[in-house]
Amino acid sequence: MNSNTELEQKIETFLSGMTLEEKIGQMTQVRHFDDISPADIKSKFIGSVIHTQGPLPGEGAEQWQAKFSELQKQALSTRLQIPLLFGVDAIHGQNTYEGATIFPHNIGLGASGNPDLVQKAASITAIESKATGFNWVFSPCVAIPMNEKWGRVYEAFSESPELTAIMTKASIIGHQEKIGNKGVMATAKHFIGDGSTDFGVEGGLTSLSRDEVFERLLPPYKAAIESGVASIMASFNTMDGLPMHAHKFMITDLLKDQLQFDGIVISDWKAYSRFGQNDIINAGIDMVMAVDGDLDGFQEGVRTGVLDGSISEERINDAVRRILRQKFKFGLFENPFPDKSLIAKIGIPAHRVVARQAVRESMVLLKNKNQTLPLKKNTKIVVVGPFANNSGLQSGGWTINWQGTKENYQGATTILEGIQKFQDSEVKFDLDGTANIEDVDVAVIVVGENPYAEFFGDIGGEMDLFQLTLTDEHQKYIKAYKEKGIKVVVVLISGRPLVVTEQIELSDAFVAAWLPGSEGDGIAEVLFGQFDFKGKLPHSWPKSEDDYQGKYGPNFWDKSIEPLFPFGFGLTYQSPK
Ligand code: BGC
Repeated sequence: MNSNTELEQKIETFLSGMTLEEKIGQMTQVRHFDDISPADIKSKFIGSVIHTQGPLPGEGAEQWQAKFSELQKQALSTRLQIPLLFGVDAIHGQNTYEGATIFPHNIGLGASGNPDLVQKAASITAIESKATGFNWVFSPCVAIPMNEKWGRVYEAFSESPELTAIMTKASIIGHQEKIGNKGVMATAKHFIGDGSTDFGVEGGLTSLSRDEVFERLLPPYKAAIESGVASIMASFNTMDGLPMHAHKFMITDLLKDQLQFDGIVISDWKAYSRFGQNDIINAGIDMVMAVDGDLDGFQEGVRTGVLDGSISEERINDAVRRILRQKFKFGLFENPFPDKSLIAKIGIPAHRVVARQAVRESMVLLKNKNQTLPLKKNTKIVVVGPFANNSGLQSGGWTINWQGTKENYQGATTILEGIQKFQDSEVKFDLDGTANIEDVDVAVIVVGENPYAEFFGDIGGEMDLFQLTLTDEHQKYIKAYKEKGIKVVVVLISGRPLVVTEQIELSDAFVAAWLPGSEGDGIAEVLFGQFDFKGKLPHSWPKSEDDYQGKYGPNFWDKSIEPLFPFGFGLTYQSPK
């Protein structure tokens, strides 16, 4: 008997002995804090626990593991002893744990164009996630962002389906370690159309035609399925007049039947009450994030649906088969508890070396007049702006907190610290661009966007907190130093291309550094020429705010909007301009 048949038989044996309540329990994901008490794990037959924004499971990794082990024991004390899956939004390293290695966000990895690096980063994320008690990550985001106003552009690798598919494959293989006890389950998200909504609205309407969806958005999902991805998360957007969670054609007919995805389709946050209750189950959602008060309504609603015949038993069985299949494949039955020995690996130098390489390779040189860069060791330098010395600001959303942090965090280095390592003389630091500093040759001015996540980052959306241009304050830093006649090198920290045409004009050198994460000191290694620039733009770069009058920004499908820099642009020291 081949191992697949053996596995499928094991699943059938389990399934045939399960009550409806036990099956619905497996389909339920809860938060580890307010929704449940440990005893509920047992009495409600819970299948999975999520950790995201909210109280931490404990102080250090040992307590995190202990907390999850306590919940696991409850699950293992049920009649069928089916272990829990523990999921986390570890989307650029185990970013919910302070002290973990934080990689550049995916947009930076997309710029690196280096799938080997993405695979290494993913396997490190898997190790550090396992070390903190998880066996499932909600990553990678494989969206194709078509409008920079979307607040989640940085979560995705690129506007190019080909590049995204390559990086997706690398990420999934890295996370899952070809499946088994070594890796964690990965999640391709958000299926489908999250990044391609009209006007870049998070959870908005995706009005691309079916052919365009297939051509532009599907390739990364095909790559994910070919790489054995364990789960796919449904998206908040609507398509064809339906919330994606209730889009049976896309989830069941396309994803499961045509593309033969045999893993778990997980819902997004609170989807049961938001997107049509049992409609989402009938459309093919297998596990529901029954959070924020949704737990009982979900379990009871599905039970009633099965009893009154509006949900077929076969649909429930399909969901449970998929969940059990992954639990078996990832060795949960043999190894349900976290491995204590992994704790020592969190944030170790060997992991940070890879993250620093990712920082270097993600940087894109957009301008370098008269070879202003590389900086020389004896050049007199002033470093300008709060982003230059703040690891929170340089890391973006989903870092320590959901919305990121504006504070320095444990284990990280800043851009200023990196520059200081290269300079024998004292490096001046002008925190807010107002210091009276004249006697320097070069100002390295670090500007950028404050951290944001999800709809908080939409431009012109519900929250309206951000803009496509730099803030006046950051623009002033550049003008002030230019007016002093000092050479200006701008390092832009942002989760997306911004409209910086004038600032590029004013500056002598301009670098897009995206959201580098914990290894801020890696930036100096390129600025000082220890390494050359490698990064290439993973997006078409806009020239003005007028580029955003239509549904999408500049992208390589629409030749009517000419970008300032095309997709793939990036100078090197070998080709200065
Ligand atoms: C996001 C997902 C995330 C989930 C769990 C949602 O709001 O859209 O990407 O995985 O929350 O935190």
